[in-house]
Amino acid sequence: MSDVEATPNPELLDKVINLAKRRGFVFPSAEIYGGFRSTYDYGPLGVLLLRNVKNAWWRSMVQLRDDVVGLDAAILSPPAVWAASGHLATFTDPLVDCKQCNERLREDQIDGICPKCGSRDLTPARAFNLMFKTHAGPIEDDGAVAYLRPETAQGMFTNFLNVQVTTRKKPPFGIAQVGKSFRNEITPQNFVFRTREFEQMEMEYFVPPAESPKWFDYWIDERYNWYQALGIDKSKIRIRHHDPDELSHYSTGTADIEFLFPWGWGELEGVANRTDFDLKAHSAASGTKLEYFDQASNERYTPHVIEPAAGATRAMMAFLLSAYEEDEVGGEVRTVLRLHWRLAPYQVAVLPLSKKPELEAVSREVLTMLQNHFMVDYDVTQSIGKRYRRQDEVGTPFCVTIDFDSLEDNAVTLRDRDTTEQVRVPIAELLGVITNRMN
Ligand code: GAP
Repeated sequence: MSDVEATPNPELLDKVINLAKRRGFVFPSAEIYGGFRSTYDYGPLGVLLLRNVKNAWWRSMVQLRDDVVGLDAAILSPPAVWAASGHLATFTDPLVDCKQCNERLREDQIDGICPKCGSRDLTPARAFNLMFKTHAGPIEDDGAVAYLRPETAQGMFTNFLNVQVTTRKKPPFGIAQVGKSFRNEITPQNFVFRTREFEQMEMEYFVPPAESPKWFDYWIDERYNWYQALGIDKSKIRIRHHDPDELSHYSTGTADIEFLFPWGWGELEGVANRTDFDLKAHSAASGTKLEYFDQASNERYTPHVIEPAAGATRAMMAFLLSAYEEDEVGGEVRTVLRLHWRLAPYQVAVLPLSKKPELEAVSREVLTMLQNHFMVDYDVTQSIGKRYRRQDEVGTPFCVTIDFDSLEDNAVTLRDRDTTEQVRVPIAELLGVITNRMN
């Protein structure tokens, strides 16, 4: 566990937000209408980075394991699901209004003082349910009420039997899901850290009850290591166990994996021991027994659940913040995103030195060859130095430059983002050399 003191760094946040907008990672949603209440759109580079974060999660949680399977459940769901899960009754934040300036605030975030105008004249707190409510079908009556899911997790519980029976998995086994969730947050803030529409990466791991403490520790470790394997420095990440009064209504133990954001430590992911709360609640409410029959011991039991629950959009922001650096190259300051190659929007950029047709022909051949394996940018405009800077700024690990010598020696210059070192590589060996450097 790291004990680095949080040192607020608002300039870093501004720089990353600025870069994200300027280079097409994240745009304010409906910007031409003045934006819309802390919602964001992911631009051409953002969609690649976000997809890579989700793919890296899926690879580690599903692809590389034989005990976890995937699911993609509906976003719209009936009130019965949320009544049983406890969200209708308890998924609330304490809302207060400032009587002086009418600001709406979360009581637990403000110490009794309005941060906007400094007044202590606040209304009493009332429980505000965070779920978005809508109607399914043309008639807006009570029978048509539906909710946008505030977490992906319930899809895994309501499908427990479907998945268990169709895959014949035995506990311990997990169901993983990546997708959008919605919360009507009172105070969305800090760019994409807290938004009303966001993406989650969640896995419910069903275990024999006696094994739950072991698997709780196991998943905390796995997830803590995952962020570091993708480049987050150990000094910027820590594990924080919840005090009993912080626990969610379903949890007997939760540990947050926290990142050192520019404003201090903040949650990236929660690993919770949800016990048999959800399966029992849905069994009772639906009348369908969500249990496992262990043939070996001839026992029927309700599995306990360990849940690593991460935010994809929030993780993307952490990876951007942690990768951002300014260093000096050739006497000039350069901005570089030292993103792990697995996360970088483009792994390679192909840069013909000139627009001459004979160079373009070779360059396009190289481009096509690399596109079969990687996301590749192709850039022919401005000086090669400027093009390197542009690629550094969006985190492209490798640039391939094709020059007039390439026509003679069938070789190209391969440049490394982090060291700026350049080496000559035969085109026939290029794919192998790049692939080796990525592993
Ligand atoms: N199923 C458990 C669950 O949803 P949570 O701690 O409320 O637990 C899990 O959410 C993760 O989802 C958080 O650690 C965070 O990364 C992300 N998250 C939650 N609310 C968010 C919001 N309003 N905006 C962006 N990410 C959010």
